[in-house]
Amino acid sequence: MEHFEVMDSVYWVGKIDWELRKFHGEEYTTMRGSTYNSYLVKDQKVALIDTVWEPFAKEYVKSLANTIDLNKIDFIIANHAEIDHSGALTELMKALPGKPIYCTRNGIKSIKGHYHKDWNFITVKTGDKLSLGNRELVFVEAPMLHWPDSMFCYLTKSNILFSNDAFGQHYASEFMYNDLVSQAELWSEAIKYYANILTPFSPLVKKKIDEVLAMKLPLSMICPSHGVMWRREPTQIVEKYLEWASNYKENQITIVYDTMWNATRRIAECIADGIMLHDPTVRLKVFNAAKADKTEIITEIFKSKTVVMGSSTINRGILNALAGILEQIRGLGFKDKNAASFSSYGWSGEANRIIEELLTKSGFTTIPEGPRVMWYPGDEDIEKCKEFGKMIAGLGR
Ligand code: FEO
Repeated sequence: MEHFEVMDSVYWVGKIDWELRKFHGEEYTTMRGSTYNSYLVKDQKVALIDTVWEPFAKEYVKSLANTIDLNKIDFIIANHAEIDHSGALTELMKALPGKPIYCTRNGIKSIKGHYHKDWNFITVKTGDKLSLGNRELVFVEAPMLHWPDSMFCYLTKSNILFSNDAFGQHYASEFMYNDLVSQAELWSEAIKYYANILTPFSPLVKKKIDEVLAMKLPLSMICPSHGVMWRREPTQIVEKYLEWASNYKENQITIVYDTMWNATRRIAECIADGIMLHDPTVRLKVFNAAKADKTEIITEIFKSKTVVMGSSTINRGILNALAGILEQIRGLGFKDKNAASFSSYGWSGEANRIIEELLTKSGFTTIPEGPRVMWYPGDEDIEKCKEFGKMIAGLGR
């Protein structure tokens, strides 16, 4: 996409990545692509905020040179050292040797750790200001949103918050503003991003938002480093973040299983039937962990009040797709959710216990004695699974 003016001589100079389908290696699916937003702020002095992912580095620097004489850039702001934002620094600094890079103390460590270059770093802390002439950039450290080095910067008079990863979405769109895109797509990507990336840092999210609100900065736009910019009611995403950061859950139950010969699938279906018999208003999601999109599964777990997980027993353990999801939720640290396990087995039958232990260690409130069926469920097992589903559905929010 061509560079364009966002407002008041602030230009979007990033890259839309229509092709991206995986992020963080193979961990996170990005079915609507993503963007790497970089911004050029022209005043008496010129600041460049963040760059793009390394594969686009040459293209980025070339496009930037078409928009501005590179020598007219006075300051480079590195809000975050992760490769999707710092990846073009090496290419850029070849053209701008000696130009100052403003970042946090941890930013210097991360950037040096990745690129092994001794560029002209200038450390900034919360409250530090950089004058561009008529306007200033005010820096706000935001550790763990998303890495220890992360920071925001705020442009006075134009009242724009450049929030880097926070408030972003992996969402490629030709429209680039929150008021122009499909609201269903936008919010689906925004919650998916929060659930899969920011959940572990929820207490810090809340604290940081409270701190920024206390600064009483007028806000006309939030410009994140991924996805569309928030210009219509920009505080709506801030309010959502406060909600999501507070042990978020809806009236939803999610069942996740993996199965060898469909016995575990049958159990899952019977538990689902029981849930619907007890409470037809509950939103119910059922996934085979080996077939469904794992990023989507995590998002649905994030929305759930109760999670039920099951596996066939194999080699005294559980199937690997379910084990993968359990490892992900351990790291994400969901809070204040109920959980239960179920399994099928032929002889040893350890799966229930293993799943239950992992869920308990991950901080879920586990309900003991979920269905454990030898071979394939018969009529009596089916009734027990349905009863279990009814009981699960009755658990409060
Ligand atoms: Fe978009 Fe933490 O990088």
